[in-house]
Amino acid sequence: MTVISLFSGAGGLDLGLVKAGNRVVWANDVDVSAVETYRKNLGRHIVCCDIKDVDLAAIPDADVVVGGFPCQGFSQANLKRAVDDERNKLYSFFKRTIEVKRPRFFIAENVKGILSLGGGTVVERIVSDFESVGYRVERRLVNMADYGVPQTRQRVIFVGQRCDVAGDFLFRFPEPGFGKGRRRPWRTIREALDRYPDPDTPNHVKNHIYSAYKLAYRNFTGHRPTDPNKPCPTILARGNGGGGVCAIPHYNGKRRLTIRESAAIQTFPDSFEFCGAMNACYRQIGNAVPVLFAEKLGRELRRIERVLGA
Ligand SMILES: C[S@@+](CC[C@H](N)C(=O)[O-])C[C@H]1O[C@@H](n2cnc3c(N)ncnc32)[C@H](O)[C@@H]1O
Repeated sequence: MTVISLFSGAGGLDLGLVKAGNRVVWANDVDVSAVETYRKNLGRHIVCCDIKDVDLAAIPDADVVVGGFPCQGFSQANLKRAVDDERNKLYSFFKRTIEVKRPRFFIAENVKGILSLGGGTVVERIVSDFESVGYRVERRLVNMADYGVPQTRQRVIFVGQRCDVAGDFLFRFPEPGFGKGRRRPWRTIREALDRYPDPDTPNHVKNHIYSAYKLAYRNFTGHRPTDPNKPCPTILARGNGGGGVCAIPHYNGKRRLTIRESAAIQTFPDSFEFCGAMNACYRQIGNAVPVLFAEKLGRELRRIERVLGA
């Protein structure tokens, strides 16, 4: 299927969709380093600017619109005016794109916290917003570790289908195959990273460098020793509210993960090169949808395309 990608970042979601055989026709991000990374690895179809400055008429039509939208401006007290809240402009833009471009499907990724905002009313409001413009919407909370990603990253995936596309809701969320009681156990951080050389010795691995961040164990994400026999904790773009950066320690206890190791946890291939300053690279990676999971979403789009074409 053809895809419009909003808030594309370095392109984790887009790479997965492309690997599954879909084609991104237009992408956008405001972050200069992320756009440089995207261009180097995925192509020149990404436009670097604030999405609020984009004229929707300039975006080509596509089968699918994808993206994640921040939602800090929602609160139970202010539900009515939530969409006008300055902090929700990005959600509004996503919604407006769906209204104007009328894609057959949309996929939006968000943090787990969106489910509990306003005691669950925010998520209901978002779903009813999309229903009111002619879409059926389903959502699922997923743990990426259940899909073979070596990381316990939980995210909410919204999928919308335009009501006139088919009688049934066609999108089937990928089935989890990893974890207790399933085909295979969760993949561990050691399985994912043991193949990389020591970054302090000469090597040819791209982006295999790390920032000199002093490890301090303060018992919150990014500040705990890493168990080599478990999946990695969530790779975050910034601090997690506990203060400072979120630097996941290597299980050798000596340093934080390199940029390449963080990317491997997010299932980016080793050939994918990140651009920009070190903190910009870590941020792009922490922001991304794991490529492996995105590819599963992309395969489902391809399956639906075959069903609709038959
Ligand atoms: C969670 S990240 C998306 C990651 C991407 N889906 C991936 O898989 O790599 C959200 C992105 O939204 C971008 N963003 C935030 N505000 C924006 C704006 N006003 N206009 C365009 N992009 C914006 C950020 O720069 C960031 O790269």
